[in-house]
Amino acid sequence: MNLPVAELHMHIEGSLEPELIFGLAERNAVPLPYADLDDLRSRYEFTDLQSFLDLYFANMQVLRTAQDFADLTRAYFARASAAGVAHVEFFFNPQAHINRGVPLTEVLDGIMDAVAGSEREFGLSSAAIAAILRDRPVSEAEEMFSEILRLQSPIIGLGLDSAERGNPPSLFEDVFARARAEGLHVVAHAGEEGPPEYIWQALDLLGAERIDHGVRALEDPALVERLVDEEIPLTVCPLSNVRLCVVDSLAEHPLRTMLDAGLVVTVNSDDPAYFGGYVDDNFAQLRDQLGLTDAEQDTLARNSIKASFATEARKAELLRR
Ligand code: ADE
Ligand code: ZN
Repeated sequence: MNLPVAELHMHIEGSLEPELIFGLAERNAVPLPYADLDDLRSRYEFTDLQSFLDLYFANMQVLRTAQDFADLTRAYFARASAAGVAHVEFFFNPQAHINRGVPLTEVLDGIMDAVAGSEREFGLSSAAIAAILRDRPVSEAEEMFSEILRLQSPIIGLGLDSAERGNPPSLFEDVFARARAEGLHVVAHAGEEGPPEYIWQALDLLGAERIDHGVRALEDPALVERLVDEEIPLTVCPLSNVRLCVVDSLAEHPLRTMLDAGLVVTVNSDDPAYFGGYVDDNFAQLRDQLGLTDAEQDTLARNSIKASFATEARKAELLRR
């Protein structure tokens, strides 16, 4: 890749590679329901978002201690750095761990230890966004967020993810208002499987500064106009969209249509261990299968830096490279 890239949409738990699942299972004496690596890998065939989420949550059972979360996060940083990523803003799902009896302090201590060392160890700046599981009760999200605030964890934002259909952003208006009042950034998954209406809600009710995915915005011309006018970035995940059957193939991905419409699009890996690749793999396959040009790739890279929540000084430094 020519220019540095910021990765703005990836779930750290989605970078849990099969080898690490087996390694952590052994370290923590967690029994796995898989005969071997091949057996596990044979299950990476998804029909929709939910079919993926089932495996994603099941595999998290091997994550128990701060050391596990630190190892997971460092492994991703090493791979992302090799992919040309210079800055990353990643999601983690506190409720997915709290609900299994893992103390939130273990999660945060591990993740933040890796974040604190990312520039020195891997040459990339990094920050964490706590993401609410939208298919869990609203009260659970409120409690999780209160606990994060109580612990004074240095997260930079609040996000919204997990099963989208039937779980509109409107449910989470209050907790997002609290996050904004705390000075946190706010983003939301919308328009992946859910309708354009959920993107409107994410903007109008949650105050989302970026929309994660947003590919279904194209179904609503008035929404496209709004996103273009307000320069709201969309963190698109092409390989994820193919693997979760949001689009039929990379060759038919609407990425170019989105760029041509004037949308501020970025390319991201979402859950790289599950969807067949990291950011560099997304770009390489877009070049091969969508005919992505050098100029388009440069636009996407620049968009990602501009759309990040890095300081203006850091953005300027990365845009000069
Ligand atoms: N959690 C992890 N990956 C996700 C995705 N692509 N959509 C919604 N929630 C997720
Ligand atoms: Zn995602």
